[in-house]
Amino acid sequence: MYKLTKCLFPAAGYGTRFLPATKSVPKEMLPVLDKPLIHYGVEEAIDAGLNEINIILGRGKSAIEDYFDKNYELETELADKPKKLKLLDPINKLLARGTFTFRRQGAMLGLGDAIFKAKSMIGNEAFGVVLADDICDSQYFPSVMAQMVETYNKYQCSIVAIMEVPISKSESYGIIDGDEVEAGVYRVSKMIEKPKPSEAPTNLAIIGRYILNPDIFPMLAEIKAGAGSEIQITDALQKLAEQGKVIALKFKGKRYDCGSVEGYVEAINGFYNK
Ligand code: UTP
Repeated sequence: MYKLTKCLFPAAGYGTRFLPATKSVPKEMLPVLDKPLIHYGVEEAIDAGLNEINIILGRGKSAIEDYFDKNYELETELADKPKKLKLLDPINKLLARGTFTFRRQGAMLGLGDAIFKAKSMIGNEAFGVVLADDICDSQYFPSVMAQMVETYNKYQCSIVAIMEVPISKSESYGIIDGDEVEAGVYRVSKMIEKPKPSEAPTNLAIIGRYILNPDIFPMLAEIKAGAGSEIQITDALQKLAEQGKVIALKFKGKRYDCGSVEGYVEAINGFYNK
């Protein structure tokens, strides 16, 4: 049984769908109301017990590193304005609850490569992966990562979070096939990255939440660039799935795809109207 206390945030991508904003602002720092996207994901991970936060960065992403650090100058400036100072509470609370480690990806060769570059940070342990541009709001349930940790503890396999999508949207996702072993839980037999609707085996799409066992690293080492000329995590997971070592969990809650402008606007409206 592997230790599970780390969570990885691959945040090195260029965020081209948000250009020109992402020319100088990391996508993960775009705000949903008063907090940046990555704040929500880190809070979800820490709430699920994964308090060792590891973040993969690229050039121009140092605002993320600054966000997860104290800002003494600002706190000194606001020292006699307690109401304003209090606005820093949400991030200061996260800083007190977690540890934060950063490394650069170097060349942005895809999500699979970003995860592979985290090998030395993770070691021989299981770890969560959160794509910060997917915000999961599970108001009436444990957080999505907490649901996944529960499933991991039961099956001890790598876990992917899935949801049903219209089959016409299959080219935007990794799609799984498998046997339902209990309600909403599948033993994955097949995973395909961005299949055409005619080639999608199901409408069950992977979203930006994973728990991976360290046996993913030798698989990633073998992977060549796939869909979009990127090293795809789905291709490495497919190799584990062939050995029956991947479980998919249909999570409870609402996911916002903040990697697209449309989903981002939906998230802002959803959180504002809560
Ligand atoms: P996306 O496919 O959303 O790419 O990456 P992107 O660059 O963030 O955004 P677009 O598509 O150009 O608008 C999914 C996740 O994987 C990370 C991204 O930061 C994002 O969290 N990623 C992607 C890396 O860390 N490194 C990469 O080489 C590629």
